[in-house]
Amino acid sequence: MGVPMSVPKTSAQNITSISPAIRAGFEDWTPALVKQEIDALKDKPGAMLPILHAIQDRFGYIPEATVPIIAEAMRQTRAEVHGIISFYHHFRTHPVGAHVIHICRAEACQSMGSRQLESHIKSRLGADYHQTSRDNEFTVEPVYCLGNCACAPSIRIGDDIHGRMSPDKFDRLADRLTTSTLELK
Ligand code: FES
Repeated sequence: MGVPMSVPKTSAQNITSISPAIRAGFEDWTPALVKQEIDALKDKPGAMLPILHAIQDRFGYIPEATVPIIAEAMRQTRAEVHGIISFYHHFRTHPVGAHVIHICRAEACQSMGSRQLESHIKSRLGADYHQTSRDNEFTVEPVYCLGNCACAPSIRIGDDIHGRMSPDKFDRLADRLTTSTLELK
């Protein structure tokens, strides 16, 4: 007779108590860290976009509360900074989930069914592009070629590229990555 397996509760609790952004590899933002990024770039020509990129790359998004800090440092109004952030789809103003999924929308992947795959992923996670699933596990983003065309359709989750992706394969992958129950639509 086998010994019943017990899941150590504490390890699950430890994982879920860490913020999704940290699990995705980003840092929690502070005004001092934001100023550090601004100071490193503000004297370069056309510094605003590189600063916004640097902030998003470090913290996973551009928190609303960083806008006045950026505006003051760059001698622009808050409305001007908001205008730039909202003009570019690339910039997020909400924290990312624990896993950022990039779905390739370029030609080779499209010809191998990436459109059906993307609707499956969006429907399974209940999140459109630039959105995060309600359990904060997954953020969905589009990408245009991951350099893995021979194994289309491709997606990237974090730093890992997954080729020949299908809805079934995605479901298995998502189940493995999820630490809390996904809300299925
Ligand atoms: S077209 Fe999708 S990886 Fe190149």
